[in-house]
Amino acid sequence: MYCLHLVVIFAPMKDKINNILVLTSGGDAPGMNAAIRAVTRTALYHQKKVFGAYRGYEGMIEDDIIELNTQSVKNILAQGGTFLKSARSQQFRTTEGRVKAASNLKKRNIDAIVVIGGDGSFTGALKLSEEYGIKVMGVPGTIDNDLYGTDYTIGYDTATNTVIESVDKIRDTASSHNRLFFVEVMGRDTGYIAASTGLATGALSIILPERKSTLKDLFNDLRKAQEKRKTSNIVMVAEGNHLGGIYEIAEAVKKEFPSIDVKVTNLGHTQRGGSPSTNDRVLASILGYRAVIGLLEGKANVMSGMINQKVVYTPLSEAVSKTTDLDKEMLTIARILAT
Ligand code: F6P
Repeated sequence: MYCLHLVVIFAPMKDKINNILVLTSGGDAPGMNAAIRAVTRTALYHQKKVFGAYRGYEGMIEDDIIELNTQSVKNILAQGGTFLKSARSQQFRTTEGRVKAASNLKKRNIDAIVVIGGDGSFTGALKLSEEYGIKVMGVPGTIDNDLYGTDYTIGYDTATNTVIESVDKIRDTASSHNRLFFVEVMGRDTGYIAASTGLATGALSIILPERKSTLKDLFNDLRKAQEKRKTSNIVMVAEGNHLGGIYEIAEAVKKEFPSIDVKVTNLGHTQRGGSPSTNDRVLASILGYRAVIGLLEGKANVMSGMINQKVVYTPLSEAVSKTTDLDKEMLTIARILAT
């Protein structure tokens, strides 16, 4: 549970901004609604007008923008997804798209935007800042947990809870039928979800993008499991791994171990849905709040993140270009405890 000692009054405010726009962009993540609510209500509390763009940058370009009031964000704290909807905008990558977006902001006197999303979303926002001087505040919203400048991204906790709930169920069948299950989880080209849920579900092996594991390594793990008479096994596979697709890996194992009953489950987009966990609601509320406070204090082109239970503002350029290494000890622990 996050426990942050908030300083209630941030004074003196530099108050360098006019109106604020909030949007969600990229893959949706549980807790995005809680972040929109926090941004909206904090801005209103500080007498700022706040607008929301539908479908991320698409709405900014197409002028699909609404003014938000305190009622607009009622009863959304517990809802998964994002009521502002999300998109990965191709138009925004073009100069013409950004010209339209900037003009729609200008006519509403919006000079600051809060972007809730991942690295692609922040890169787009930086372009708008370079070209039109719009102040950008990022809020890390992605299940992948792949942003530098925060220990956790909004949505990651809920996604991992969804994974372990499913894998625990899969384990029942694996155990009843003496089966080996390959479970594929998301994470794009990172393995945070796979590593933590692999540890949390006692996976025999975890196949990650960050490690160049081979089929031989996997076969060795399976042989050891057979020697120890382990009858049910889970192998957690991160989607961006180097070994290949989950079906390919499963086929290779079937060939090498014809006696093992091998099954495959891809958890897919179930990981992105559902009501956000307590941790995600708290994180989203704090980071959304501090995103607005940061803008009012004159901060721009940074991401509000949480490191060691303290809010930290990291330049967006670093948040998108740097990486945090996976915890190697966690992987060692997972390996030792599963064998
Ligand atoms: O970034 C979030 C994420 O869910 C990744 O884990 C995954 O690779 C990707 O988005 C899937 O995107 P889409 O929703 O477009 O299929």
